[in-house]
Amino acid sequence: MRLPFVTLAWTLAALAPTLSATPSIAKDDFVLEDEVALCMSCHGEDGIPIEPEYPVIWGQEYFYIYTQLRDYGAGRRENDTMSAIAAEYDRDQAKLLAEHFAALPWPELPVVYQEGDQQLAEKGITRGQCSACHGKWQGDSRIPRIAGQQPHYLSQTMHDFKNDVRMNAPDLNSTMKQLDDETIAALSRYFTTINVQ
Ligand code: HEC
Ligand code: HEC
Repeated sequence: MRLPFVTLAWTLAALAPTLSATPSIAKDDFVLEDEVALCMSCHGEDGIPIEPEYPVIWGQEYFYIYTQLRDYGAGRRENDTMSAIAAEYDRDQAKLLAEHFAALPWPELPVVYQEGDQQLAEKGITRGQCSACHGKWQGDSRIPRIAGQQPHYLSQTMHDFKNDVRMNAPDLNSTMKQLDDETIAALSRYFTTINVQ
């Protein structure tokens, strides 16, 4: 009658290496406050990033922040700075960070606008059928908020999609290839004029 137990023990022993090989490496000395301070050294003490190429993350969608951290960490989205930082966190830690920043208010950034931007932007939006997913650009779950985002960052990340540098959302690569550089520039500025609370 002992046989089934022995068999079970052997089965578990055989499984153990497979289970422990599952990647879920947590940062040992994780203290949310300390990690948040690190994030804010670039993404801003008051939500306004310290460099124009750094995105706003205060008030961004929870699920979007979480998936980006996981994508950077796993190499699906590559960036010298963010890949190294995000690789340190496991799922639960990434969730805590996402929860923290999603709950903060979106900062108010200066509006940047040039004559003719709206016309070009609207053409691009129609061509790329952006509104089907982005609605009024306020964000929803895994769709990021774009309204009021940093224009330099937006322009850079749209070019990264267009040039197959950012590869974590394949739909966007083909979408951005339909837009010329002028339209991308106009869109980036146009998004600063959309104010959603
Ligand atoms: C040294 C500066 C720096 C630090 C520190 C930093 N970031 Fe970033 N972060 C960046 C840059 C630059 C980008 C844009 C990278 C790119 O183009 O892919 C970015 C992008 C992001 C994005 C993607 C935003 C989007 O709209 O797609 C998220 C989310 C993010 N960071 C969260 C964090 C969190 C959370 C922390 C702290 C654990 C953190 N960052 C720390 C510089 C930094
Ligand atoms: C099929 C749905 C869909 C369409 C159409 C679409 N998007 Fe997106 N977009 C998304 C999703 C989903 C993401 C987040 C991808 C990720 O997880 O990295 C995104 C990300 C973005 C980002 C990156 C934001 C950031 O914070 O990094 C920009 C900018 C953007 N879209 C602009 C546009 C524009 C402009 C158009 C039209 C020309 C467009 N999108 C069309 C679904 C779509």
